[in-house]
Amino acid sequence: MNTEQKIKQLREDINQHNYQYYVLDKPSVSDYEFDMLIEQLLDLEKKHPEFFDATSPSHRVGGQITKEFKTVAHEYPMLSLSNSYSKEDLQDFDERVRKGLGINHSDLLNTPVAYVCELKFDGLSISLTYKQGVLVQALTRGDGVQGDDVTNNVKTIRSIPLQLKNDFSDFFEIRGEVFLSHRMFEKINKEREEIGEPPLANPRNAASGTMKMQDSSAVAKRRLDCYLYYMIGKTLPTASHSQNLEKAKTWGFKISPHTKVCYSIQQVFDFIDYWNTERHHLPFDIDGIVIKVNDYAQQQQLGYTAKSPRWAIAYKFKAEQASTLLENISYQVGRTGAITPVANLKPVSLAGTIVKRASLHNADIIEKLDVRVGDWVFVEKGGEIIPKIIGVDRNKRTAHSAPTQYITHCPECGALLRRQEDEAQHYCINENHCAPQIKGKIEHFVSRKAMNIDSLGAETIEQLYNQNLIRNIADIYELKKEQLLPLERMAEKSIANLLEGIEQSKKIPFERVLYAIGIRHVGETTAKKIARKIKTIEALMRASQEELLQIDEVGEVIAQSIASFFSVEENKQIISRLIQKGLQFEISNEQAQESSDILQGKTFVISGVFSKHSRDELKDLIEKNGGKNTGSISGKTNYLLAGDNMGPEKLKKAEKLGVVLLSEDDFLKWIKK
Ligand code: IVH
Repeated sequence: MNTEQKIKQLREDINQHNYQYYVLDKPSVSDYEFDMLIEQLLDLEKKHPEFFDATSPSHRVGGQITKEFKTVAHEYPMLSLSNSYSKEDLQDFDERVRKGLGINHSDLLNTPVAYVCELKFDGLSISLTYKQGVLVQALTRGDGVQGDDVTNNVKTIRSIPLQLKNDFSDFFEIRGEVFLSHRMFEKINKEREEIGEPPLANPRNAASGTMKMQDSSAVAKRRLDCYLYYMIGKTLPTASHSQNLEKAKTWGFKISPHTKVCYSIQQVFDFIDYWNTERHHLPFDIDGIVIKVNDYAQQQQLGYTAKSPRWAIAYKFKAEQASTLLENISYQVGRTGAITPVANLKPVSLAGTIVKRASLHNADIIEKLDVRVGDWVFVEKGGEIIPKIIGVDRNKRTAHSAPTQYITHCPECGALLRRQEDEAQHYCINENHCAPQIKGKIEHFVSRKAMNIDSLGAETIEQLYNQNLIRNIADIYELKKEQLLPLERMAEKSIANLLEGIEQSKKIPFERVLYAIGIRHVGETTAKKIARKIKTIEALMRASQEELLQIDEVGEVIAQSIASFFSVEENKQIISRLIQKGLQFEISNEQAQESSDILQGKTFVISGVFSKHSRDELKDLIEKNGGKNTGSISGKTNYLLAGDNMGPEKLKKAEKLGVVLLSEDDFLKWIKK
């Protein structure tokens, strides 16, 4: 097999595995094998840019940066659906449809209207355009008339095909809902909590926030998903909605299996009743059922109002509610010191589970609801996974109840709590001496993306903490075999593993150490950018706010947080102990040689195919040398790094805006200087 064939084969194999995993939910290889195939492909594509293909699955890992999303008019407006909340509403809808179709009562039995019932996914709608089987554009709904071009981000969604299979139509749009599974939503919030960011409210908000992220590789990591539910175009394969969805499935789209053609409104009701309870077992959120007239000729006959089609309607589920007794309020201290008040409830059955606790979020919510211990409260399970308290049954309040006094001191360590003006949460500021915070910091420090000491799990940390062997991250490097031997579950072998893991971590590069030490708001990417720019921990400790603000991704909040971290004497001592132990606190020579400030303040757009480097490598070079990458040409672009086969539109725009064209060779010469 020659290289071209090899690349082609890899792409086909990866596409097939992707399809099996993300569309059919039937994995055909292990994650490891899959990652290896991707790596092989990325490597070959890097070495052979001449075989570039816009539909290659290598685009799934992202890498494109879009500073500003282009606004594009929809070919067909993206309408919304009218809502209904009861069976009577739906009966009225059925009657309107029949009237609109001119079906009178006596003909009812002979001409049933076929309705398609579908789940109403709770995410953000997206419109995808396919030309000759290739995904060419993805737009958000926007105001319905025009939306944002989020193509680069959408390409990272693995259930969305970049290239269609079989007998696809030449040109069409297909619409659907981008969403986040409960599993991914929980994972994201856990990661946010680790760096002290407030959690995202629900999967829907998280999905729309993700879609607006500028860095598509960050989008890729969030593993968005997408069900498609509506095809539009001048030449569609069949004359009915359900058959078109069947077709779309054979072309590679992810179509919900929970779709049913119903021939009476009673069948529609049965579908609704079934999903009203069954929805709680789905791995993602739905907020209702959508009912659509199946036949296209009938759809056309019924037409549209200004806002929505007359041939479809949404039935919205009622958020399930229950009422129960608030027994007491407890306060949890998170890894970052954030205090979360928790309502402990008399157990009550709600939406298929027994609810005992609900989050009260923060002091403001408690005050707004005026909830008091001893109150009967209403709990609801709506879009959020954790049930929430939505109100108090005032009729049942006892005469002697008193307003809730929010705690003033940390329930774990007794320190005074602080709440900053612009924050909703109270914090325990005793970060170096408050048990959950100490353990949280250590867990973060050893985690996979940080120092990757996997032989030191949460249980061992707990054990070492209880034995007084660790009180901060530097103590990890003082651990001795003799101290560990007497501990439960510690054998020679596990001790050797633990000490070896700790030793190995001394090789972890500076950027990850910087992430690991747990400066609030400094996530993985920010740590990388800071390390590349500032280069050593000493320089970072000395850096002024102005210097920090120069760094990409660093704004006021992060700059402040860095300064306040290093203003604590104890943090400085911990760092100096870690330096003594041999951890990496400056970027390696190799990394340093590759980076410079030479492109500082310059904004680039990369377009076309290059012979010496892949686009991702060029992007990396721009960033390492202090420049900025953007996705599209605007008034702010300084240089267009132009390769072969660049689109004429881009060239025209660049000329019009006076953007300087740069060849790959000239660019490489420039940065070599
Ligand atoms: S059809 C013209 N089908 O609900 C009809 N929409 O409230 C286009 N949605 O904007 C929409 N699941 O974002 C349709 N199975 C489904 C849906 C669905 C979720 C969303 C969609 C739409 C909104 C309307």
